[in-house]
Amino acid sequence: MTAFLRMSEVPLAGQRVFIRADLNVPQDDHGAITDDTRIRASMPAVRQALEAGAAVMVTSHLGRPTEGEFKPEDSLAPVAARMAELLGKPVRLVADWVDGVQVAPGEVVLLENCRLNRGEKKNDDDLARKLAALCDVYVNDAFGTAHRAEATTHGIARHAKVACAGPLLAAELDALGRALQQPARPLLAVVAGSKVSTKLTILESLAGKVDQLIVGGGIANTFLKAAGHPIGKSLCEDDLLDEARRLMAAAKARGGDIPLPSDVVVGKRFAADEPAVVKAVADVAADDMIFDIGPHTARAYADIIGRAGTVVWNGPVGVFEFDPFAAGTEAVGRAIAVSAAFSIAGGGDTLAAIAKYGLEADISYISTGGGAFLEFLEGKTLPAVAILAERAAKAH
Ligand code: 3PG
Repeated sequence: MTAFLRMSEVPLAGQRVFIRADLNVPQDDHGAITDDTRIRASMPAVRQALEAGAAVMVTSHLGRPTEGEFKPEDSLAPVAARMAELLGKPVRLVADWVDGVQVAPGEVVLLENCRLNRGEKKNDDDLARKLAALCDVYVNDAFGTAHRAEATTHGIARHAKVACAGPLLAAELDALGRALQQPARPLLAVVAGSKVSTKLTILESLAGKVDQLIVGGGIANTFLKAAGHPIGKSLCEDDLLDEARRLMAAAKARGGDIPLPSDVVVGKRFAADEPAVVKAVADVAADDMIFDIGPHTARAYADIIGRAGTVVWNGPVGVFEFDPFAAGTEAVGRAIAVSAAFSIAGGGDTLAAIAKYGLEADISYISTGGGAFLEFLEGKTLPAVAILAERAAKAH
């Protein structure tokens, strides 16, 4: 477990506290927030700092704006309004804040989209020094942006008097560490999605750690074909067949397994009204496309999930956006929800599936990270965490 200083260990009374949160939330065409999970998850750090008597500055990026070019749609104004509702107190939005911020103890201000500052993305050192000068304590609570080395996630942590992890960042790292570093066995990963290529490093990294690996979606098609099964016109990456065979052999050599579907749900067209047909894998026709796992496979996977000590879930196993092809993902999600295993889920599609079936309360930990969650699963070092660990190591 990486050692870093936690906000809960730092005296905050009367201190100027700069919190980097990830308030990058989805919005509709009118700017209304469509999912405020990240804002809600970021409020404990703000509340704790306020209760301790700190003068609190919070910032985040929103989208990927052009630095130095303010456009109204890049503003954190809707986020400030939502924060004020959640905190039950005014949240002043401050623009052009790099050279100084007026904020009193017990007050919270939201500093406008940090990616509008020139040098943010490139982690410019002059910018980072100016940001560090704004505060006595820097708190990184932005797990969703921990895979980015930017001025507010990395450079500032190098120069701030004190640099620590906020409660959300710490909770994410604790949960992921518990799942992957000291897991209750058997450790099972469910990794699904359309392409092997986008998840190859995750599959490779997990294949060396887990006891069982369930693959789903288009990824499973490539594994099915690699094992010699017909897949018709299903999405498949032929150039990765050898890779799939290598992963299956490696799992077996470790005493583990990558089980494959015995039945699937197929259609002829990719459409929401396409009739779903259940077939044994051996019966998949040349013009079929596999869109979901079949009921027999879903039961077999639910059994495996039921026996797991830890489950890591990323990706729906079928085209769950289309109801005829949603049963497999629902069955897997429900099996994870009812299992006694410590379960952790992350990634945009996975969260959408969890929300669709109302499983939030029954998954042990739901990550707020998209790319950051995936990079953690790949075994990569998250730069925003690494710099906090570096500071903690230097302090000893
Ligand atoms: C995310 O939404 O995954 C994070 O907020 C990071 O956003 P980015 O990919 O624009 O850095």
